[in-house]
This record gives sequence, C-alpha cells and structure tokens, in this order.
Amino acid sequence: MNDVKGRITSGYLKYELKTFEKMPVRIWDDAREASRYVAQSIALAIRQKQQDGEKIVLGLATGSTPIKVYEELVRMHKEEGLSFRNVVTFNLDEYYPMPKEARQSYWRFMHEYLFDHVDILPENIHIPDGTLPIEEVAAYCERYEKMIDLAGGIDIQLLGIGRTGHIGFNEPGSWETSTTRMVRLDHLTRHDAIKDFGSEDEVPYRAITMGIASIFKARIIYLMAFGQHKASIIREAVEGDISHSVPASFLQKHPNTRIILDRSAAEDLTRMKAPWLVGICNWTDDLICKAVVWLSQKTGKPILKLTDEDYNEHGLSELLIEEANYYELNIRIFNRLQRTITGWPGGKPNADDTNRPERAHPASKRVIIFSPHPDDDVISMGGTFQRLVDQGHDVHVAYQTSGNIAVHDHDALRYAEFMLEFDQMQQALTDSNRALYEKVIHFLRHKRADQLDIPEVRTIKGLIRRGEARAGARFVGLNDDHIHFLDMPFYETGVARKAPLSEADIQLVTHLLERVQPHQVYAAGDLADPHGTHRVCLDAIFEAFRRLRERPWMKDCWLWLYRGAWHEWAVHEIEMAVPMSPLQLRRKRQAIFMHQSQKDRPPFPGDDNREFWQRAEDRNRATAHTYRQLGLAEYEAMEAFVRWKGLDNA
Ligand code: F6R
Repeated sequence: MNDVKGRITSGYLKYELKTFEKMPVRIWDDAREASRYVAQSIALAIRQKQQDGEKIVLGLATGSTPIKVYEELVRMHKEEGLSFRNVVTFNLDEYYPMPKEARQSYWRFMHEYLFDHVDILPENIHIPDGTLPIEEVAAYCERYEKMIDLAGGIDIQLLGIGRTGHIGFNEPGSWETSTTRMVRLDHLTRHDAIKDFGSEDEVPYRAITMGIASIFKARIIYLMAFGQHKASIIREAVEGDISHSVPASFLQKHPNTRIILDRSAAEDLTRMKAPWLVGICNWTDDLICKAVVWLSQKTGKPILKLTDEDYNEHGLSELLIEEANYYELNIRIFNRLQRTITGWPGGKPNADDTNRPERAHPASKRVIIFSPHPDDDVISMGGTFQRLVDQGHDVHVAYQTSGNIAVHDHDALRYAEFMLEFDQMQQALTDSNRALYEKVIHFLRHKRADQLDIPEVRTIKGLIRRGEARAGARFVGLNDDHIHFLDMPFYETGVARKAPLSEADIQLVTHLLERVQPHQVYAAGDLADPHGTHRVCLDAIFEAFRRLRERPWMKDCWLWLYRGAWHEWAVHEIEMAVPMSPLQLRRKRQAIFMHQSQKDRPPFPGDDNREFWQRAEDRNRATAHTYRQLGLAEYEAMEAFVRWKGLDNA
C-alpha cells in the first residue's frame, strides 16, 4: 500500500493493541478499497441468502460516503451476475418536505446510484416518504418501523456519519430509544447540505429518519467515513464516551458494528496520531519525526530543549531505547525540519543542494502549477508562485476546471446586461445577439432555486472565473501564453456532483505536460477529499505521470503537492516550507482579491465562515507559528509542500 509519497504504509505498527478504540475499526488506504470491501461483504451475504432461498434486508444510506459501495454493487450486478431479486431495502432517511423527483431527494439519489441499474423488485424498496401531509407523518413513521420488523429486521445496515456525529438524521440530543420519526436538522448538517441545494435557504429544516433504536436492531452495521473532515468526529465516536452529543457513539453498545475508514478519516485516532501510546512501533524516520514534533507540541518546549524525562514521561521511552541518545535525536530532527525551509522553491542556483528540498540545476526551471479551480493557485501557493516568477523560472499555470458552478447568479446577470448595453451603445447589437442576451437575462431573472443553469449561463460564469484567474496570474507576472485553461470535461455537469474522470480529462493534462516538459509540477494534493474536484484533478495528474513515465524529461520532473483551501500538511510531513515576509503575504492577498466572484460570500463556502484569503493567511501564519514553537526561525507565514514519489524518478 502506498501513501501520498508512494511509501509503504501498511505495517505502520508492528502490533496493534488499539486500546483507545471502543469499536472494531478497519482502516484502508483509500475510500475505493474500503468501499470495495463493504460491497463484497454485502454481495457475499446476498448470495448466501440466495442459496438458502431467503430474502436479505439491507438498511441503506445516502450522501457522498456510500456512493462507491453502490457503484461496486452495480458493477458486480453487470459483470458478475449479482442479482438483487431477493433483496429488500430500507433507507435511513429523507428530507421533509421533499418531492421524489427533486434533484436533492434521497429517493432520486438511490435510484440514480443503485436501484435503476440492478434487478431489485420495486415493491422491495422502502424510502421514507417526504411528500406526505404533515399530519400523516407520525402514523407513517410507525408503519415504516413495523415494516422493517415484518421484513425480519435489517441484516446489514450501512451508515455514514455527519460532522455533528449524526447517524441517519439522528442529530445530537437524539434518544437511544428513538424510532422512525420526523426530526429537525442541525445547523451544521444544513450547512453541509448547501452543496446540494445551492443556498442555505433552500435546505429543508426537517427530515424523516429511522431512529437510534431502529438502527440498533440491525444484525451487522458498517459505519463508513472517508476524508479528513470526518477525522475528529470519528475519534469522538470511536474513542470518546457514549454520549447524546455524539449519536454515533451509541454504536459502541452494538454487538456487531464495524467502523470502516480511509486513512484521512482515521487521522485523529490515537493509533494514527500517537501510535507509540498504543503499541510497539516500527520506528521509521518519518515516525520518529512525527513523535518528536508531537512531544515538542505536547510539552510546549522547543525540540532542542526536550529532555530524556520528557520522552520517558510521555510514552516515548521505547524510542529512547532505539535511539540511545535523546540529545542527538533532538538535533537530528531539528536539522531535518530546518532543511525544509527555503526561500528558493525552484532551487538555489550555484548552491550546494545536498540538504535543500530542490535541486540547484538547472538554475532556471520550467514549471507548471496545476490549479483545480481558478483560484487555488494563489490561495494555496500564491507566495511560492510569486517567488518562482521573481526568481526567473519559466512558470506556466494550468486551471484544470472552469469553476463555473461557483458564481452567483447576480454576477452573471450583471455581465449579461453589460454585454447587451455595450453592444447597444456601440450600435453593434445584432438581432441574434439581442435574442441571446435577452434569453440569458430572462433566465437569470426568473431562475428557481432548484433550476440548473442553461449552457449560456454556465459559459458566462466560466468566463467570469477565467477573467479573474487571468488577472491573478498576470498580477504575479505571467504572460498570457503561459496561462492555460483546461476546462476538464468531468467538471461540466452544472451541479456540485461531478462525473467520473474520463480519458479526455487525462489527455488534456498529458498534452500540457508533454508540451512544457517541466522540471517542476505543483498540484493540489487534497487526498482528504474523496469525492471532490481536487481529488479528481489530482488523479488526472497521477495518471498522466504514469503514462509519461518513460519520457526522458520525466526523470527530471518533480511533483510537489500543496494542500487546497482546507487543511495544511502536518509538520512532520512537510518537505518544503516556503516562508513569506509580511509584504509578500500582502501581495498574495492582492492576487487572491482578483477573484472577485469568490469574495465576501462565495456560493460554495464550505464549512468555514472566513473568506478564502483569510483562511489562506491564517493557515500560512499557523504553519510559521508551528515552526517557531518547535524552536525554528520565526517568519510571518509559510506555504508548505510534500513531494510525490509515486514514480521511480524519486
Ligand atoms: C444519509 C444519512 C446521513 C449521512 C451523513 C454523512 O442517508 O443518513 O447520516 O450518512 O450525513 O453524509 P456524507 O456521506 O455526505 O458525508
């Protein structure tokens, strides 16, 4: 199993004692592998029941988490003859009110991802009904509960987990004895649903959900969580006390619950965060560095002031046995971190580069910065981008997607009216242009919240972002022939949910790499984001690298990963830290300001109320602060990178 740097990660611990975990946990390298495992377990159970001539009852979840399980089940149906004729399903929940055919309905979700593609009998499908008059809901919920019992109870229940700790829509405060009922959604849950509804006002306040007690009746429960945004709630659910404030923690009492995670969602578990507290470790250099950084942060002491007592008192005596001399260990880790800091991200010409993150030669490098959305380049690595240009490298930037869903309608309307009025004033308005502009203006003025944009509006929105990206790149100093817009097709669905990566997407990336033959490539390494745009954009780059691996120039091509808008690399992972002065940080802010459509309140702000420039500055300041706390030099801010060593050119 390879991690982000292409290193072997399985066998991270020699012995796993898991003393902190109160439920069985299985961690997979990525969401796809984990989902395959769950899908195979379900398929096995379906087939076993088929052999016995029995029905099997599945409890199903929606949301981003189970999608790959459903994809795998559909694949098994099509390619391996897995039949669903003996399958009865009960879905966990549905928004209320919610017409079945609405884009956001769980009814539609289940049909799109699973039911329409397999041979399940329609009468065996049960999904809470979001269309009932409110006065009928209570009786309906009682019936739903009874139907589950009549079907013989749920054999296998799939669960995701919300960031509130909800399972189904059982939000914090739900009773352990709760059954199917109408509930109010938590603020955070509604916030997370904005991505599907377009705006918070459109997200329903209520839902119908199976209760905790209904879920508990299942014989086997798989709770799945993928992505770093789930890491802290997973730790609370798995290692914390059983509590109403984290409904998923009730599962600790269930005799047959399995927690299925990818590495990102497992990140906060003690066995990952501080494995030395859990068992005997296989002390690799990276793990030693992680332990020393952890100890320094835990004790609040700079690395060079750590003593053998600190190591012994914090569960690291075993490391001291391996290392013999804590003093030299401190110095070694200090030097390792010190050497990650460089003001020369493209390498320092004519310098000894033995201990520098980048090669000195060639002094001037060809560079491609891949930016998944049109603003990730300046948000995530604006300071480094500027340095690369200032230091004379031949820098290209490639915007991988158009970013066209993240523009407000009122901005698009302003541009449509602008075009109409401009043509009028220039007396250049043709009949066909007038018809076109008026169509767009009419659409935008009368658009319903759940309506998809017409293609012309998507084009305008894409062009708005394109102009902003160009302005940002020009501000940093690029010529227009070094600014590339790939408009990768997988993104062009018009909604938050994207199509899978296609050959055409990979070709676009491959061609650009071939054309530029870069020495350095920068890409958004958001491995934490299992379904999002960043992950797909990164997969396209990985695939292009694999295809081009035999090209002679590839031997000299290094891929540096920055993290997108949300999280930074952990300190022990960082291989290059590029510092910024207060002035450089201000310049970076100006480049981000070029993205006017994303200012104040972008359509998809995520779970953070700060603007993108604020998040970027806070994050870059936090990295500098962490380095300072460890006893290294003090800078205003820092951008951080990890080198991908998935190919053999490392
Ligand atoms: C969905 C459901 C919810 C989700 C949870 C996680 O049927 O009941 O509990 O499982 O909100 O959602 P995602 O998977 O989208 O992160």
